[in-house]
Amino acid sequence: MNHFAPPMPLPVPVTRPNTVCVIGAGYVGLTAAACLAAVGHQVQCVESDPARLAEINSGQLPIVEPGLAELVAINRAAGRLGFTASVQEGVSQAQVALLCVGTPPRASGDPDLRQLATAARQLASAALRDLIVVIKSTVPPGTCEAMDVLCAEDARADIELRIVSNPEFLREGRAVEDFFFPDRIVIGAEDDATAHAVLELYPPGTRAVLCDRRSAELIKYAANTFLAVKISFANEIAALCQHLGADSDSVLAGVGSDARIGPAFLGAGPGFGGACLPKDVAGLIATADSLGLDARLAKAARAVNFDTRQRVITTVHAAVGSLAATRIGVLGLTFKPGTDDVRDSVAVAVVDALSGAGAFLSCHDPLAGPVALPGHRVSDPYQAAAGAVALLILTAWPDYARLDPYRLAETMNGNVVIDATSVLDVGAYHDAGLEVLAIGAGIPDSYHPVIVGPLHWALDAALA
Ligand code: UDX
Repeated sequence: MNHFAPPMPLPVPVTRPNTVCVIGAGYVGLTAAACLAAVGHQVQCVESDPARLAEINSGQLPIVEPGLAELVAINRAAGRLGFTASVQEGVSQAQVALLCVGTPPRASGDPDLRQLATAARQLASAALRDLIVVIKSTVPPGTCEAMDVLCAEDARADIELRIVSNPEFLREGRAVEDFFFPDRIVIGAEDDATAHAVLELYPPGTRAVLCDRRSAELIKYAANTFLAVKISFANEIAALCQHLGADSDSVLAGVGSDARIGPAFLGAGPGFGGACLPKDVAGLIATADSLGLDARLAKAARAVNFDTRQRVITTVHAAVGSLAATRIGVLGLTFKPGTDDVRDSVAVAVVDALSGAGAFLSCHDPLAGPVALPGHRVSDPYQAAAGAVALLILTAWPDYARLDPYRLAETMNGNVVIDATSVLDVGAYHDAGLEVLAIGAGIPDSYHPVIVGPLHWALDAALA
């Protein structure tokens, strides 16, 4: 199965290679380290987790990201990329250090900045020369200033540390492509010279937004919150479509074809998930709260997202009657196609909820990493459908669009397929005797009286 896009063009090498230290070999750090080496920099990547470091050193990658394994292998072989557990070793020659550690959400919505603070202090005490410290992790506005204070405590008096905000916008599944060909990079620095030194890390011609540090930090929260608002808007319109008998794909395509709106991130589905969007919306809300402000749009996006997930569960419930001891096949566990990541996946949350209501679940995903599931995991989508009263599609893997509806109909013990992702060809399934309930696609009999009322009024007025 080929889940990924064709090979991308190679980026232009930088004119002035730097020596760079990257702290953290997660999605952001590993991608940044490999891509910076690929454009000509000399990169040392520091990873504190011994198991992860051992995995990388054995030639395996802890994450699935198209093109990344090849870049790591090529640049290691070329001597431009190394991995170490030691911050001292990583930073000893560095002109620039990138902080790419996790900032996981706390219950309050604020991110937990302990890994960042620890890494910044380690860098500060290990630095032997002036160093630009670039924060790539997503952080609340004001973090760079806080790191100034922390680092000043640990750095040698004769060394200048300049803390810069350069948030990462890469998407999982397209991280390498996004790194080489970003829409823009954002650099928040105290002065132009520092901003340009960071800009020089990237291939020539990269479009940049240069600003102050707080603004750069806020751009990341604001951009992801806007994307979340757009998705929730699409899902709210899809809910309307479902009740009106309208087709959400057509409606949203029509809306998105207005150049002022654009089609991106207007795809209705089971709701947004993943390690970033939910966390960054929560972070923006928490930042506003801390200032006595009410981020109402962000809160609405989050509430609609929760309702969207609930709508999937309600639709399954309505389709099968009682969930207790009902066998349901589930296709898709990752938070979106093209990744193995199940962090904050809506699919996993739906599986948990259905299982909690007593359903027996048989789940398939072509790539999902290890995940604690209440149901059992199978390696073939037809196996997931075997004996199922209903089949539920939760991640829009292209492979699912290619399933044979006749084979599914034969193996299932019912005839309902609930498609939360709009990947199925409804007509073909209908021909095979399966009823597809597409979330967001209309159920024509359910016109809502609020709509019918004005229509009656208009007709009455016209006939009078
Ligand atoms: C996101 C941002 O896009 C990226 O810029 C940031 O740096 C990290 O967070 P990512 O988490 O990889 O990237 O996923 P993304 O492609 O943005 O999708 C997020 C969620 O929104 C997924 O659950 C996806 O399925 C959902 N989504 C996306 C929709 O439901 N509809 C859409 O139209 C687009």
